[in-house]
Amino acid sequence: MHATHFLGRHLSTRFVLLLAVIGAPASLLNAQTNSGFGTTNSVEVHADSTPVLQIDAGKVTGNVSSALYGLMTEEINYSYEGGLYGELIRNRTFKANAQSPVFWNAVGDAAISLDTNQPLNSALNVSLKLNTSNASKTSPVGIANGGFWGIPVRPNTTYRASFYAKAKHFKGPLTIALESAAGKNVFATATVPKISGKWEKYEITLVTGDVPTSKENKLVISTTKPGTWWSKHGTVWFQQVSLFPPTYHNRPNGTRPDLMQLLADMHPAFLRFPGGNYVEGSTVSERFNWKETIGDISQRPGHRSPWGYWSTDGFGLLEFLEWCQDLHMQPVLAVYAGYSLRQQHIDPGPKLEPYVQDALDEIEYITGDATTKWGAQRAKDGHPAPFTLNYVEIGNEDEFDRSHSYDGRFAQFFDAIKAKYPKLQIIATAGVKSRVPDLIDEHYYPDSTEAMEAQSHMYDDHPRIGPKVFVGEWATRVGWPTPNMAGALGDAAWMTGLERNSDLVVMASYAPLLVNVSKLSGPDRSMQWRTDLIGYDALCSYGSPAYYAQVMFSTHHGNEILATGSQNIPTRDWQPPTRWHNGVEQLRPPVQQLRQIFFDATRDSGSGTIYLKVVNELGTPQPVKIEISGVTTVEPEGTAVVLKADSPNDTNSIDKPTNIAPVTETVDGLGTDFTREFPPYSITIFELKTK
Ligand code: AHR
Repeated sequence: MHATHFLGRHLSTRFVLLLAVIGAPASLLNAQTNSGFGTTNSVEVHADSTPVLQIDAGKVTGNVSSALYGLMTEEINYSYEGGLYGELIRNRTFKANAQSPVFWNAVGDAAISLDTNQPLNSALNVSLKLNTSNASKTSPVGIANGGFWGIPVRPNTTYRASFYAKAKHFKGPLTIALESAAGKNVFATATVPKISGKWEKYEITLVTGDVPTSKENKLVISTTKPGTWWSKHGTVWFQQVSLFPPTYHNRPNGTRPDLMQLLADMHPAFLRFPGGNYVEGSTVSERFNWKETIGDISQRPGHRSPWGYWSTDGFGLLEFLEWCQDLHMQPVLAVYAGYSLRQQHIDPGPKLEPYVQDALDEIEYITGDATTKWGAQRAKDGHPAPFTLNYVEIGNEDEFDRSHSYDGRFAQFFDAIKAKYPKLQIIATAGVKSRVPDLIDEHYYPDSTEAMEAQSHMYDDHPRIGPKVFVGEWATRVGWPTPNMAGALGDAAWMTGLERNSDLVVMASYAPLLVNVSKLSGPDRSMQWRTDLIGYDALCSYGSPAYYAQVMFSTHHGNEILATGSQNIPTRDWQPPTRWHNGVEQLRPPVQQLRQIFFDATRDSGSGTIYLKVVNELGTPQPVKIEISGVTTVEPEGTAVVLKADSPNDTNSIDKPTNIAPVTETVDGLGTDFTREFPPYSITIFELKTK
C-alpha cells in the first residue's frame, strides 16, 4: 500500500504514464486544436466581453467511445462486505480475528469462543463454540450479531437465514430471531427443532409483519435447553451464519437492490475489477486469488483486504461477472501480476509462470465454453454461458514496485495472453518499453477543484498514436465522506475534457465508487479512503452531487465529438500547491490562469441532437453566448438538465440524499446563436435539436 492511501494525507496528482512512443505533433492529429477552435487555456477578448462558446457542427474531431463511462470497484470502505454484497452478518465465518469472535456477542449467560478443533472444512477451519449449560426456560443462551453497523429490518419482508452447526449433548431446538438491538422488539422468529452431531446446513426463512423500518437490530440464535436428558452440558458449534434480505433480481448470494439501482442509473459501460489495491493485496498471499473465490461459499477461505479488514470472498469472481450481467456492463478484468503492496514481487521468468497460468485460467473461466476445464468449472458453479471479455489489465499501479520488475512481468503476461487470446486488449498500469500495450491505465486524484480543473485540457494536445488511454481511477477529492458540489464541479470540468478527447481516452472510471458511512473515523472505521461517489449505511443509500454529475454525463452524449472554440472565458489566479519531495519543499509552481467555464459538445449522428455541456464554477450567474455553425437550424425548444447549488460546500447525505440533484427543464429561445444565463456553481447539459 502506498503511503498516500492514508486518510487525510495529501495525495498529489499522479503523473501521466507515458510510453516511449514517438508521437506526431498533436496539432497535426487533433482536428479540434488544428481548427482554430482550440479549447486550450488561451483567452481571447471579445468586444462586449460576454463569454462565447462556439460549436462547429460541420467538424467532427472524433468518435465518442461507447465504453467511455464505466465503474471501478474493489473491497475498500466496506464496498462489498457491508455494502453491495447482500450478506447482513458481519464476520459470518469467524475468521476476521484469530483471537476472538469479533462482532459476535454472547446472549444470556452463555460462554462463546473460537474453536480451531472443530473446523467445518479446510477453508472454514474454525468454528464458534457455544456452551449451552446455563440455558433455562426463563433465561435463554445463544449468540448474536449486530451486522455491519446495524441490520436493516423492513416490514413484510422475507429474509433467508442459514448456518452450519453440529452439537454434543444438545439436540435442539434453536430459535433464530431478528430483534431490536436492546432485545425489546422481536420482528421475526423461526425454529430449528433438531441439531445433529455432524456438521449440517440449516436453512430457514424469517418473515417480518407490519413492523417499522429500522437498522439498530441484531440476529440472535438461542436456546432454552441446557443440554440433553443425560447431560445438561450441551455444546453447539456454528460456522457460516448468514442472513440475506431480498436481493437485486432475487439472485441467491446476490446484491443490495438500492445500491444496484443507483449504479444502474449511471448506465455504466464496463466494470473494472477487482482492484485497485485489492487485486494486489498487502502481500502475495493476500492477493485476490480468484480460484479461492469461486464455488460453494462454504469452500471459500476468505482473505484480508489490503484495506485492513476481512473479506469472506462471498462476493467472488462469478459474483463480479453476474454483477456485470445484471447491469449490462462489460468486464474489465484486472489480473494479479506478481506485485503486492508491501514491496513483494515475483521475478519475471519461471517463478512468475504459475501466476501467468492463473491469469490464463481466469480468462478461460470467464470466456471458455463447457468443453474447457475452467469453462466447465464456471458451468458447474451455475453459469453455463461464457461471458464476453475484451479487456485484461495486468496488475495495478505497478510504478510503485520499487524493484522495477514490471516491464519484464508485463511482457510475460502480455505474450502468454496474446498467444492464447489474440483479440484481447491488454492494459498496462505503468510505463513499459518491452511491449506496446493496447491501453495504458492512468490515475488522477487531485485534492482540489482547481487542481482538477487545471488538468481538464491535458488530453487536448496528447499524441493520437500509441496506446489508447484508460483513466481507470480518478476523482476530485473534495468533500467528506462523499464529494460536495465543489467536487462535482471539478469532476464535471474534467469530464468535459475526457469526452472531448474520447477518441483517445476510451474508458474512464471514478474511484472509489462506494463507501459505508456508518463510522467515519476511529478504530474499526467503515471508511478507509475519502472521497467516494456513493454513500450508504445498513438501511439507506445516496448519490453525491458528483454521482449526479456522472449520471448526467453518461446518459447525455452523442457518438460524435464536435469541434469547439471559445472567447472571453473568465479566468482567475490560482497558485498550484508546492510539491514536497523527501520532506523538502520544491520550487513553488507559477501562478496559473484558471478558466471558470468548461464545456464540450457531442452529437448523435442518428438524430442530429447536439449535447452541449457547460460547467460554471463561478459563484455568480454567468451570461454566455452560444454560437453554432455547420447546421441549418437549431429548434427553439429543447431541454436542459441542470445540477446546481447555492454553495460549493452543499452536499448530499443519508439524511438529505437528494439535496443536490439534477432537474430537467424545457427551454426555449434556442437557435444557432443564443445567450443563456448559467446559474452559479452549476453543471448544465443542453439537448439541442438540429437540422
Ligand atoms: O481508489 C483507491 C486506491 O487508489 C486504489 O486501490 C489504488 O489503485 C489507488 O492508489
